Parts: sequence; structure tokens; C-alpha cells
Amino acid sequence: MKKLRFVITGNPGVGKHTTAKIIAEKINADIIDINDVAIDNNATGKKTDLGLDVDVKRLVRLLEKQLKAERDLVIVGHLAPYVLRPVGISLVAVLRRSPYELEKTLKKRGYSVDKVRENVASEILGTSLYDSLKTFGKRKVAEFDTTGKTPKETADEILSALQKKPKSKLIGIDWLNLVSEKGDMRRFFKY
Ligand SMILES: Nc1ncnc2c1ncn2[C@@H]1O[C@H](COP(=O)(O)OP(=O)(O)O)[C@@H](O)[C@H]1O
Ligand SMILES: [Mg+2]
Repeated sequence: MKKLRFVITGNPGVGKHTTAKIIAEKINADIIDINDVAIDNNATGKKTDLGLDVDVKRLVRLLEKQLKAERDLVIVGHLAPYVLRPVGISLVAVLRRSPYELEKTLKKRGYSVDKVRENVASEILGTSLYDSLKTFGKRKVAEFDTTGKTPKETADEILSALQKKPKSKLIGIDWLNLVSEKGDMRRFFKY
């Protein structure tokens, strides 16, 4: 049988790792954490304020090797659209989270003011979703909103989508409209 290659991506802080762990346990799959692969194999350069400076070419090759495993795999990381090729990937879940909740999560993580702003702005603009669509195509990409949900609820929602294979997987999240309506553009985009 064809082995599952299920990708969980999204901007930092949306809940990828927490959700991936629950899902992998439920379906008895192994987790490949893209960040760990990069770090364990010295595929990173120096650690910059905005995250790891990654050797993309090297990471692409390392992951390709790991994807040959004879096991079902859940592959998790915000770098997914930049380091995975679409061939052989079953489905890509892009997790989304309201900028207001995301801001709280990233502050709690101890990120600097600039790093919080940069990451929240990226979620508002839908960078991870857009880049995932570009890399994997709309037939493979599904969007999930984690706002106001528990990790378990999110995991269950994703698992049910994984089984049902719905036709339309994009739910049209528009944080930009929300932020603009609330008059918060200046708060999230420094201008
Ligand atoms: N619905 C949800 N799904 C996943 N994580 C959630 C959810 N709601 C809150 N969280 C919390 O968000 C935090 C960030 O999650 P994490 O999995 O580390 O994010 P990421 O891997 O995307 O950076 C965790 O403390 C997690 O418990
Ligand atoms: Mg994480």
C-alpha cells in the first residue's frame, strides 16, 4: 500500500508541533520534524534573530532520503513549502490562527517585539498558505483554523478531513480584513 506523506505547516506558533504529535500517535505514523533534521545534520548556518539560517539545498536532499522510509510519515515544519517537492506528498495541512491569539502565543515564547510583529504580519498576509499553494498546488492543500480550539479538536478536524478527502479544502480565512476592520493595521504593520 502507498505510504502516507502528510505535511503539517503554517507560520510559527499556529500549533503545528502540538497537533502533529497527536495525529502521528493516532495513526501510528512517524514524525519528521524539518527543524530537527536541519539541526541534527548541520544544515543550518548561524542562528539569526529571525530564526535559523538554513542551507536549503542540503535540507531538500536530506528530507528526500528520509521520505523513502517504509512507514507512514507526518512531516512538520514552517519550512515545508521551501524544502519539499510535491511528488509523493499525500496532503498538506496549513494551520492558521487569528493574529490576536498568535501574538499572545509568540509573546509567551519570549520572542522579541520585532520577531513577534514579523511572524504575526506573515500570518495576516497568509504567507505560509500562499507559498504552500505555490509549491504543492490547490488539490493537495487544506487550510485549518486553530483559533479558539484545543489541540485535540484541531487534530480531530484534520484527521476527519484526511479520511473524507473533501473537494474544497480552502476555507478563505482573511485576517487582513479582520485586522483592517478593527483598525489594527498600524499595530501589526509598522508604518
Ligand atoms: N487548536 C490548537 N492547536 C494546536 N496548538 C494549540 C491550539 N490552541 C492552542 N495551542 C497551543 O499553541 C502553542 C503553540 O503550538 P506549537 O505546536 O508549538 O506551534 P508551532 O509548532 O506551529 O510553532 C502550544 O502551546 C499549543 O498548546
Ligand atoms: Mg513548532
